[in-house]
Amino acid sequence: MMEKLFQTTSYAEYWWKASYKNGFGVHSPFLFRFIEDVLEDERYFYAYQDVETIRKDLLTWKQSIPFMEVGALSHWANQSSERQISDITKYSSVSSKYGQLLFRLSNYFQPKTIVEFGTSVGISSMYLAAGNPDAELISFDYNESLVRIANSNFVSLKLKNAHAEVGLFEEKLTKMASRFDKIDFLMLDGNHRKEPTILYYEFLKPLFDNNTVVVLDDIHWSQGMEEAWDFIRMQKEVSMSIDLFQFGILFFRKEFLGNKQHFIVKF
Ligand SMILES: C[S@@+](CC[C@H](N)C(=O)[O-])C[C@H]1O[C@@H](n2cnc3c(N)ncnc32)[C@H](O)[C@@H]1O
Repeated sequence: MMEKLFQTTSYAEYWWKASYKNGFGVHSPFLFRFIEDVLEDERYFYAYQDVETIRKDLLTWKQSIPFMEVGALSHWANQSSERQISDITKYSSVSSKYGQLLFRLSNYFQPKTIVEFGTSVGISSMYLAAGNPDAELISFDYNESLVRIANSNFVSLKLKNAHAEVGLFEEKLTKMASRFDKIDFLMLDGNHRKEPTILYYEFLKPLFDNNTVVVLDDIHWSQGMEEAWDFIRMQKEVSMSIDLFQFGILFFRKEFLGNKQHFIVKF
């Protein structure tokens, strides 16, 4: 209830401050191209229909699986609850609008390594992996049943470049440096609280390079998430940040560094 009220106020503020729909009045050539070629790209890709067909199917699955709410992790071993797959799909997956944006981001920036924290049933992973078949996508989630469902969705869509792995973010993070030289595209979409979000970012930062793109989901979900977003986008290595309300996108390109920029863009 509190979060709904927060999100409504936050959305009104975002809409009031946001500019640059259709690239109008944009002075940064990078941002102008990004708006034209990615945000406003209205082409229809076949992958959109493929992923949405899987989502539609999952929305009919009434079986229940073990499910733990985010934030309850400190005592998760003691708690057990169940939720229907249809509900999990409905409430925790990226919307089609933002999922299709993930496809276009992946397609536009052509990342080789995509790492996602928060798989759920794999909707966002499928969009990302389909956007660039040359990428290797690895997605983490502590929920074994969800990981199983996501991996079988990847098989259904013949996305050989996508794989979901069971594990707590906190454990996976400590092993990232031995598994990856660098991360080209990072999607952070789980445990939407201030301290964990900042912690995940700090842990992963050494794996970013000039061309890395980071997407943070739900940056205006709560006061804590908004604080995490503001803290992270102000870090010295971030050279450009874009607030789309649902997603916050970070760039680290050295060419922007002298002139660190933050944009709130209507999407
Ligand atoms: C919002 S959902 C991800 C949705 C997915 N990215 C999509 O849009 O299709 C967040 C997921 O993160 C997982 N999660 C949350 N905290 C976690 C943690 N500390 N370690 C591992 N998984 C976690 C939950 O199990 C949940 O499935």
